[in-house]
Amino acid sequence: MQDDFLDKVYDLETPDALRRHYDAWAARYDADLEAQGYATPGRCAAALKAAGLSRDAAILDMGCGTGLSGRALRAEGFTTIDGADVSAGMLEVAAGTGAYRQLVNTAETGLPTGPYAAVTAIGVIGAGAAPAALFDDCLAALSRGGLFCFSFNDHTLEMPEYTARRDIALASGRVSLVSEDTGVHIRGLGSTSKVYVLKRN
Ligand SMILES: C[S@@+](CC[C@H](N)C(=O)[O-])C[C@H]1O[C@@H](n2cnc3c(N)ncnc32)[C@H](O)[C@@H]1O
Repeated sequence: MQDDFLDKVYDLETPDALRRHYDAWAARYDADLEAQGYATPGRCAAALKAAGLSRDAAILDMGCGTGLSGRALRAEGFTTIDGADVSAGMLEVAAGTGAYRQLVNTAETGLPTGPYAAVTAIGVIGAGAAPAALFDDCLAALSRGGLFCFSFNDHTLEMPEYTARRDIALASGRVSLVSEDTGVHIRGLGSTSKVYVLKRN
């Protein structure tokens, strides 16, 4: 893998540095992740299907990146997917996939308000990507009864600022746990992730 974009992403600390990193990585992101065996998008899409989400439900794919996550959702039969991201470079690649109804650059326009029947944040909230506050933004974009599917990688599961968002949302009764599953995140790195589906009450 050239330039080790995948290794370096976990060391970046500011949102600007991360956005620039993803802009520079965009053209090679899919090849890098596919070569390393990136399994979390397929696991998330399968978890949403198992949760009973209807195929035509409106889904917001937050942090859609180049569209690997939207493509995984499409592969499970979901048809109505909007994508949002802060990286113009990643969004440009996502536009070429045809997986999305519309794409939004949230660095320019702010977050989509929805409401959506489901929101996904696949490989997005945590170390190497978005700040913990995005967790609550995702919940805010859901309709009542809507499903939030997200992953925490093993780095993120050790960071209380992220896991606290999950714990507080569950303890408050704002959401209920539908499913939780541990499995392969990126096979080539030997990393794992937890995939959660929460229901907004
Ligand atoms: C590891 S990539 C995951 C992309 C895609 N979901 C996938 O599974 O391939 C993380 C993405 O989160 C985006 N991101 C980082 N901070 C964000 C934020 N605050 N809001 C939305 N997207 C963000 C990055 O630009 C990047 O495209």
